Formats: sequence, structure tokens, C-alpha cells
Amino acid sequence: MTPYDIAILGGGPGGYVAALHAGIKGARVALVERDRVGGTCVTVGCIPSKALLDSSHAYWMTTHGQEHGIHVDDPRFVLAEAVARKDKVVAQNVSGVEQLLKARKVDLITAEGTLMSPTQIRVKAADGERTIDATSVIVATGSKVGMPPIQGLAEARPLDNVGALALRDVPKRLVIIGAGVIGMELGTFFAEVGSQVTVLEMLPQALAFAEPELVRILLRALEPKGLKVLTNAKVTAVRRSGATVTVTADVAGAPQTFEGDEVLLGAGRVANYSGVEQAGLATNRLGITVDDRMRTNIKGVWAIGDCIGDPRSPKLAHVASTQGEVAVDTILGEDASMDYAAVPNVVYTHPELASVGLTEAQAKELHGDTAKAARFPWGASGRAVALGEPVGVTKIVTAGKDQRIVGVHIAGAQASELIAEATLALRLEATVEDVIATIHAHPTLAETFRESALVAAGRAIHIAR
Ligand code: NAI
Repeated sequence: MTPYDIAILGGGPGGYVAALHAGIKGARVALVERDRVGGTCVTVGCIPSKALLDSSHAYWMTTHGQEHGIHVDDPRFVLAEAVARKDKVVAQNVSGVEQLLKARKVDLITAEGTLMSPTQIRVKAADGERTIDATSVIVATGSKVGMPPIQGLAEARPLDNVGALALRDVPKRLVIIGAGVIGMELGTFFAEVGSQVTVLEMLPQALAFAEPELVRILLRALEPKGLKVLTNAKVTAVRRSGATVTVTADVAGAPQTFEGDEVLLGAGRVANYSGVEQAGLATNRLGITVDDRMRTNIKGVWAIGDCIGDPRSPKLAHVASTQGEVAVDTILGEDASMDYAAVPNVVYTHPELASVGLTEAQAKELHGDTAKAARFPWGASGRAVALGEPVGVTKIVTAGKDQRIVGVHIAGAQASELIAEATLALRLEATVEDVIATIHAHPTLAETFRESALVAAGRAIHIAR
């Protein structure tokens, strides 16, 4: 059999998008995936968690809708039904990806794959083993839950993203280890459906990468919902006894214990090398070493997504997909490379946080005194107030004499959608005046971006500053 042009190991948003992109460009492609296509993102990550967060938000709005004139007697949240809906959402997405792969004539091989040489993958399927040949290989094996060194953790059977998305009953008390993205998103979900949630974070700030003032807004909004974050709280031990889990943490130097019905592990993910351990790929502390064209140290082998180790590359689905396109284009002889300057980052809490580019502190470090920040509070946005979502801010960070936009940080409802415009602005190196010259529909939340540019220019319209 003639070799494939490209064989891809792993069918997550890195691998399946690379396969589709290569298929569109006429390459003969094999995609090897042991489980369902879509990977962590579609099956046990981004998509199902958003489906559940939409359920918890709908429940919260229903039970807190008095201001809108909504009064509900005896409201109930039936987790098993929300989980069943979530499973349907996942199934629909998986089948959508399968159909697309078929349409692009990608051979989907449902099997455990092992990279035997730069041109060969051994595939072990339910109906036997064989070797497939390919001119180029893309490794897209993703990431897995990292088990931090916490005494008794494994025996206490903590929930991870998979277990938490499949619970049948809402735990009354939930302790979460780590105020990262997973901890804060799942914490929001459980708090909105009635859990008392305690999140223990060893660093001084929840969501350490985020703009501090956005995190403050978020925590203030989540506390009344029943979610509390303790920072400088490093979890050292977990013990399950009967129906109770006891979590011990070093809180600002002194040990404290926290009890819950469940404990959820949100303490980071690590690169997954399954199938490529013996391949001789160069790795670093974070994952497989690659260059900006996603080439590894082995000629003919590329790597993309969560399995790579590049400190500029966050573990995000859209980053993996973009890297997949870059890898394919490079393989096909085109001039492509990764640019990490404008990567949006979204946390789907309620309110949502979304950012792109530099934080204010990073901009000051890089651009000195020419770096400035301007903010527009959502209490002054007609649309936000009408929505009943006045808690939020749109903050822009600018640099240089021409006030080029180098960072945008949004806390508030639908921030995840609003960040797209900001990302385009960054990518096109827009200035504050470019944004001001862009007419925004009224009344919209998107206007807060233009309003923050007006604040930066000293010509604020809707706030007296
Ligand atoms: P993370 O790296 O974002 O956060 C883990 C947190 O746990 C850190 O703040 C860390 O300081 C803390 N931690 C670690 N050990 C601890 C201990 N012993 N005691 C207390 N705190 C401890 O990892 P997370 O949330 O598991 O997410 C994994 C990956 O998945 C991330 O890279 C994230 O980008 C991605 N993801 C993205 C989402 C999105 O884009 N909306 C949603 C969910 C995950």
C-alpha cells in the first residue's frame, strides 16, 4: 500500500483539525485515535463542561429571577438530567467530527497507536494489529491529569474532570484542589446548583495567569453563590473515611483541615507521551520540544497541542488546532509558523473572564512608562444593566505614543464572545483611535471595548472621567 502523506497520532482538537486541514488540501491522511474523536476537549473537557455550565446558569437565573418578575415554587435541579443532556451534546459533536473526517476522506483508525519509526505507526485495533506507513507524522497525544505529590490523594479517589462531569448527585460540600481553570469552572457549576464549594490554591492568586483585578471581580461575584477560594493554601494530604473526605492544607504556614462529601482535583495537566515514549523525541520540563513550525528533533515528525513543551504555548484547544494547521502547511511545503502574540484565553465562570495579550504588569515591564491601562466598568453600560449583568469591566492595556493595544482583559457576561474583537485588534496592531473609529452597535456589551478606548484617549462618553 502506498504510504499516507500524513499520519496523525491523537484525534483531539489538535489532531482532528490537522487531519481536516490536510484533507482539504488534498493530502492522503490517516488519523489514529483509540477513543472517540474530539479528544479531551470534545468528550470530557471544553464542550461537556460548557454544556453543564449552561445548565447551572439557567438554573441560577431561574431561581434568582425575582427582579425580572420570575417566581418559581419548589425549584429543583436534577443533575442526572443535566448530565444526560451534556452527554447528548458531546455525542452530537463527536458525530459531527466523524462526518467531517469522512467528507474530507481522512482514514479514521480506531486503535492504540505506537510510533515505531519516523515513517511507521503500529496500530492495535480490536480486530488485530498492523503497521501503517506515512511520509510525515504528527504527534497530537494531548495531556493527562497530573497527580501532585499529596499524601493519600490516589486512595481518596478524587474527582477529576471526567468524574466531576458524570456525577449523579450534587455534593453538599465540595473541596477543590487548585484554583486553576478547571477548579474555578467546575466550582462555579457546583456552586450554582447548590454545593458549598471551598477551593484551595497554593499560590497567592486564583487563576494565577489572569489580570488580578478581573480575578477580584470574579471572586466577589462567586462568594454569594457559595464558592470560596483560599489562597496560599497548599494541600498536603487527603483522607476519605466513609462519606467524608478530609483535606489538609498548609494555609499561610499553619495546617488546617477542610471536610467535604467529594474532593475534586484541579491541580494541572501534564503532557501525555503514550505511544511515543520509545520514539526518541527530545522533551523538556513541559513536553515535546518543537520549533515554531511544530517540528520535533526527528526529521519527518511534528508535534502539536498539549503534548508539546513551549512556555509560550498554553494548553488550549484553539492553540492546538492552530498548531495543527501550521504543522500541515509546513509539511506541504508552505511558509507557516506559530505566532503566540494574540492568543485569547477564556475562563467560563459566571461572570466569565477573557483575556488576550499582555497584562498591565507585563506591558509595564516590556514597554516601560508608555504602557497605560484604561477601564470601563459595566455598571455604566446600558446593555449590561438591562441584562442584569452590571458586574464586569473591560480593561485595555496600551503602549507607545500611538497607544497601540497590547492587551485586553474582560470580566463579565459573554466575555468569551467579546474577546474575539479584541484579538483581531491585537493581531492587526490596532490603536485606541482605530477602535474609537469603529462604530459599535448600541446597545451591546461590545460597546464597552470602544468605551474603554475612549477612556484611554481621555474622551470618555459614558463615564465622567
Ligand atoms: P491549571 O494549571 O490551570 O491550575 C492548577 C492550579 O492548581 C494552579 O493554580 C496550582 O497552583 C494549583 N495547585 C497545584 N497543586 C496544588 C496543591 N497541592 N494545593 C493547592 N493548589 C495546588 O490546571 P487545570 O485547572 O487543571 O487545567 C489544566 C489545563 O486545561 C490548563 O492548562 C488549562 O489551560 C486547560 N483548560 C482550559 C480551559 C479553558 O480554556 N476554558 C478549561 C479547562 C481547562
